[in-house]
Amino acid sequence: MSEKAYGLAAASRELFIKGMRQVASSVAVVTTNGSGGRHGATVSAFTSVSADPPQLLACLRSDSRIAAAVNENGSFCLNILSHQHPHLAERFSGQHDTAVGDRFEGIEIHGEAQEWVVLKQATAFCCAVFDRHVHATHTIFLGNVLKVQISAEDPLTYLNGQYRRLAR
Ligand SMILES: Cc1cc2nc3c(=O)[nH]c(=O)nc-3n(C[C@H](O)[C@H](O)[C@H](O)COP(=O)(O)O)c2cc1C
Repeated sequence: MSEKAYGLAAASRELFIKGMRQVASSVAVVTTNGSGGRHGATVSAFTSVSADPPQLLACLRSDSRIAAAVNENGSFCLNILSHQHPHLAERFSGQHDTAVGDRFEGIEIHGEAQEWVVLKQATAFCCAVFDRHVHATHTIFLGNVLKVQISAEDPLTYLNGQYRRLAR
């Protein structure tokens, strides 16, 4: 059978992005605190790596402030947002950076002055970075999960450029 029958086309940046927009993902905020400063950014490129031991990874644009801060601090917290908090995803993706200088302003957190900044009502994984790989435009940070907070809420979902709520 020819390639055309499957609708296959040569990969391009545009087609890759179009295809990835069809991937429904949970939305998280990576936070970090320490000598590299406190910062937070919205991410969807994260995944579990292993349960034995508990490990996960997050892909951060290498030229972002969040990647620089995580790199320096050597730790981060992955906060899985609840469906009630699309505004946190917007805030931590920088949409309001010109209006609100500090992304954490008015946000309820645990661990104000601590290594891990945990957002209230999020399922949170507090990690120590044990490895990092710079690849193309991004750095893959691998973390040992040392503390966990479990939320009772359904996660916020992102699909085709929009925040969504899971149907039951
Ligand atoms: C839904 C969504 C998912 C995102 N996922 C990622 C991601 O996985 N990795 C990343 O580096 N940036 C991601 N971004 C973009 C960052 O949130 C954005 O660039 C942020 O402003 C980075 O902050 P900084 O430049 O201050 O570090 C995402 C944005 C949105 C809205």
